[in-house]
Amino acid sequence: MSLQKMHGVWSNRWIFVLAATGSAVGLGNIWKFPYIVGENGGGAFVLVYLLCIALVGIPIMLAEVLLGRRGRQSPVNSMRYIVKEANQHKGWILIGIAGVVAGLCILSFYSIVASWILHYVVSMAKGTFDGLQAVQVSDYFGAVRGNHWVVAGLHTLFILMNVGVVALGVTRGLGLVARILMPLLFAMLLILLGYAIAKGDFAQALSFMFSFKLSDLTSDSILTALGHAFFTLSLGMGAIMAYGAYMPGKASIGQTVLLVGVLDTLVALVAGLAIFPIVFMSGIEASSGPGLLFVSLPVAFSGMTGGAFFGTLFFALVMLAAWSSAVSLIEPGVAWLVETKRFNRVQATVLLGGIGWLGGLGCLYSDSLFDFLDVLTSQFLLPLGGLCIAVFVGWFLPRKLVANEMNWEGHPMMEIWMFVLRYVSPVLVALIFVMAIFNKFFK
Ligand code: TRP
Repeated sequence: MSLQKMHGVWSNRWIFVLAATGSAVGLGNIWKFPYIVGENGGGAFVLVYLLCIALVGIPIMLAEVLLGRRGRQSPVNSMRYIVKEANQHKGWILIGIAGVVAGLCILSFYSIVASWILHYVVSMAKGTFDGLQAVQVSDYFGAVRGNHWVVAGLHTLFILMNVGVVALGVTRGLGLVARILMPLLFAMLLILLGYAIAKGDFAQALSFMFSFKLSDLTSDSILTALGHAFFTLSLGMGAIMAYGAYMPGKASIGQTVLLVGVLDTLVALVAGLAIFPIVFMSGIEASSGPGLLFVSLPVAFSGMTGGAFFGTLFFALVMLAAWSSAVSLIEPGVAWLVETKRFNRVQATVLLGGIGWLGGLGCLYSDSLFDFLDVLTSQFLLPLGGLCIAVFVGWFLPRKLVANEMNWEGHPMMEIWMFVLRYVSPVLVALIFVMAIFNKFFK
């Protein structure tokens, strides 16, 4: 059976742009980015993060899309195909397999955060936050987190939503979400930004996010920035490879990937610029951790005319962004299981969704499992996967094959990209790893 019949192919490159942006823009941008910026001291961290996006993220994203489009199957089988085509060692297929595992690990804690978001959609609509101060909102968030039955129910709902879309086939299930709802989310962020500029402490937010002392940097925060560059671009586990497989053969990979990377970064920066003015205005600690979004934004909305309405809309849109990201966490595994022909799409999706559901319940009852899966994936599995992808494409694939698939034969970009992919990205990832390990064990 052809890929076309088995998984579907997108009719043009814009659907790839939208789906890949849908995967990239998610809780990572709106929930995680602001809080890790806060925890890691602001500007210096932002700078390292931006460098990681440009020097590591984008070059590796190009490589990942290339592998998918060359192989035209699930990441595991795409790797199998390319390894054979280029006559390389079968061990490289592990990139695909590790990705499936990493995806399930991420889905487990991602779904719990998504269920807090779902809870907030309802709280906002009910006007729960009217007139509350930051301290009270913070208590409220604590109570939401502690309400295990409700969170478990919402987590189940979120998993079912994802199973639904992936069972339909992402090529069919995703187009609409990406086309209409992503632009709407961005518009909402701009409204919030406007509010933050008018009412919040915008000057302090700007200087917090963009002025830096190099002495603020620790090896830990550098590793966090690197890991987040992978996380936010959905890199290093095959999600983007799987989407690359559905990309039409003629479309230019270079422009497409650049656009996705820029959009993703823009959303994260705007989210930060909308949240920090409110954080500083209402006396919330910038370093208060995962609750940052959940405490700061209700404060902003409660001070806004029509706040309940805008707040409900905003959290609903964040939920949709989380949804269009989470589907890409199981798609690689599902596509693989379907290709083995032992499962149909529905069975495969239910199986992997079920594993994610169990993992999420685990995270719900154990905060340390939640933290462990977050650190394991962002700071270890994704950068490692990305490192392998860079080395494989940079050093082990015939240059001709790569240039041909990129449509970059004789193009100066090819030389620049190859240089970065061979020497810059892998060396940076390796260096940051070594530094972080050294500091963990020998200091
Ligand atoms: N990029 C998404 C976010 O920022 C999360 C995500 C979706 C992801 N698919 C992924 C992260 C694959 C790593 C790998 O919220």
